[in-house]
Amino acid sequence: MCKNNDKILNYISAKAVMSELTTQVLGRPLIVLDSVDSTNDYIKSLADEFDNGTIVVAREQSAGKGRLGRKWITKKDDCLAFSILLKPQIAPDKVTAITPLAGLAVCKAVRDFTGLDCMIKWPNDVIIGSKKLCGILTELSMSFNTIRYIVLGVGLNISQTDFPAEISEKATSLFLESGKSFDKNKLFATIINYIEAELKENNFELSGKAIEEYTSMCATIGRTVYFSRGTEKLSGEAVAINDNSELLVMLLDGTIQTVNSGEVTVQGIY
Ligand code: BTN
Repeated sequence: MCKNNDKILNYISAKAVMSELTTQVLGRPLIVLDSVDSTNDYIKSLADEFDNGTIVVAREQSAGKGRLGRKWITKKDDCLAFSILLKPQIAPDKVTAITPLAGLAVCKAVRDFTGLDCMIKWPNDVIIGSKKLCGILTELSMSFNTIRYIVLGVGLNISQTDFPAEISEKATSLFLESGKSFDKNKLFATIINYIEAELKENNFELSGKAIEEYTSMCATIGRTVYFSRGTEKLSGEAVAINDNSELLVMLLDGTIQTVNSGEVTVQGIY
């Protein structure tokens, strides 16, 4: 957290972020853009030229993308919007671990930096109470059954004081939760440091330790969830995640269903 005599910049500065980075790969280089359509699309368009670990962060996005075809609104300087390019030498079936590991890292970093009690909504939203603080959009490019690259796009709401009516019931920002202004450059560096550490320590896998930590911070587990299977609408209690990042849901008849994608509504959250 910022001390009173620290000067808080309200915009992203490469110099301020770099001075706090302890990573070996992530954010080296870090590219700061004033404005872009989407940091995910920008980094994908240059993926062949950029090195593993390159990060692109933008002060605003004109066409920010969310999961499931949704938009991600990024007005100037009120949201941390960045994408990480990864070119890991891993088997394609390990890819599913990357997003939950990143979600876990962001949740730990925000807790550590702000003291706020954030949690994870499976698979990778970071929430405070019943509202969304951060979302992650992962995009994968494959060639002949090998990974060309992965783009991990993270959007974290920092200083918004309100949201458009259609999301105001389920979105929040650090400012709305705490009434405080946090140093976004230091927070950004903390998040990058945590993501690199999480991926490295777990070797891009959902290890037993990662599952344990994820579970302890996952607001979905232990609650009733609603999801679709084909045309059928199902509900049950979320009981665990497995090492494929799937959510295990126990239905009323005691059978376990494995949920691996799409939208899950969690009772009492969204
Ligand atoms: C979600 O729907 O929860 C995922 C939101 C991801 C938003 C981030 S902002 C930076 C990056 N660029 C994009 O266009 N999207 C991601």
